[in-house]
Amino acid sequence: MIDKLDEHIYYIKKFKSKDIDEIESFKIRFLGRKGIINDLFSEFKNVPSDQKKEYGQKINELKNLTQNKYDELKLSNSKSDKSISEDLTKPGFPIPKGTLHPITLIKNQIIEIFSKVGFELSDGPEIEDDWHNFTALNLPKHHPARDMQDTFFIQQDPDVLLRTHTSSVQVRYLENNPPPLKILSPGRVYRNEAISSRSHCIFHQVEGIYVDENVSFADLKQMILYFTKSMFGKSNLRFRPSFFPFTEPSAEVDIYWGLETETDYRITKGTGWLEIMGCGMVDPHVLENCNIDSEKYTGYAFGLGIERIAMLIYQIPDIRLFFENDVRFLNQFK
Ligand code: PHE
Repeated sequence: MIDKLDEHIYYIKKFKSKDIDEIESFKIRFLGRKGIINDLFSEFKNVPSDQKKEYGQKINELKNLTQNKYDELKLSNSKSDKSISEDLTKPGFPIPKGTLHPITLIKNQIIEIFSKVGFELSDGPEIEDDWHNFTALNLPKHHPARDMQDTFFIQQDPDVLLRTHTSSVQVRYLENNPPPLKILSPGRVYRNEAISSRSHCIFHQVEGIYVDENVSFADLKQMILYFTKSMFGKSNLRFRPSFFPFTEPSAEVDIYWGLETETDYRITKGTGWLEIMGCGMVDPHVLENCNIDSEKYTGYAFGLGIERIAMLIYQIPDIRLFFENDVRFLNQFK
């Protein structure tokens, strides 16, 4: 009788199956109410008394083995069923990954280009005071050039405003750091403009400034050539004389982009040329306002709008697309 139990134990240990029906009938055959194991239990009374102890141990062993075998087969079967993932710590469903906003992508690219030639990043507040946004930049109160940048003031305190350009960051840096200095300040800026397809109250700029001994307009021009070549792969530029209160002389830079696509027509107004940045030699007054000796040091500065560059690179016909956060638009920048 013990031999019979040993045979069953041997069989159970060997038993393998991936078929769910087979596994279920295995269970019924051994563990069912009228199954083999119950039969073996009811035979206990016929076991000679000197074998009862061994028989009892073996039959319990058989029962546990069979139950464990069944559980194990059932689990691995549902595994191959994919209803239970092998790694139970994994999330239960695919979580879609977000993408970087095109403005961030272009900003990062601009930062990378200027970092290669030694520009360091500098950050400042978006809520500014009059001094850093205007006065220190050679724009005293009531100066008509303040109209160039329609400003959001805080009603209770005209000294507090939303910065209209990131030149304010440069003032803060100049005030606290002696030349030579070479910094880049990317960031969000605010202007109180009517919303149309060409203007928006919030946009993004990157401004750069370099102050050292003997910095010249030729250095500025080379830097812009290097930038446009790295960014667009082309550098057919024209420098138009312009005016900014904080630079003298000042220029606006246009790039010849061409008219290959309909979007090119749209953003260059059919000319193929697009203004991409303002620049100039830092006005000595600005240096003096920041306690920098303007007899010893000169500098150049430039500023560009990230939206405009992104529109060109990605062929985006309407600036409003950047702010609507439509996932169908954003998903295209994987
Ligand atoms: N701050 C200017 C603007 O926002 C851009 C600029 C920066 C022009 C530096 C010249 C030099 O329009």
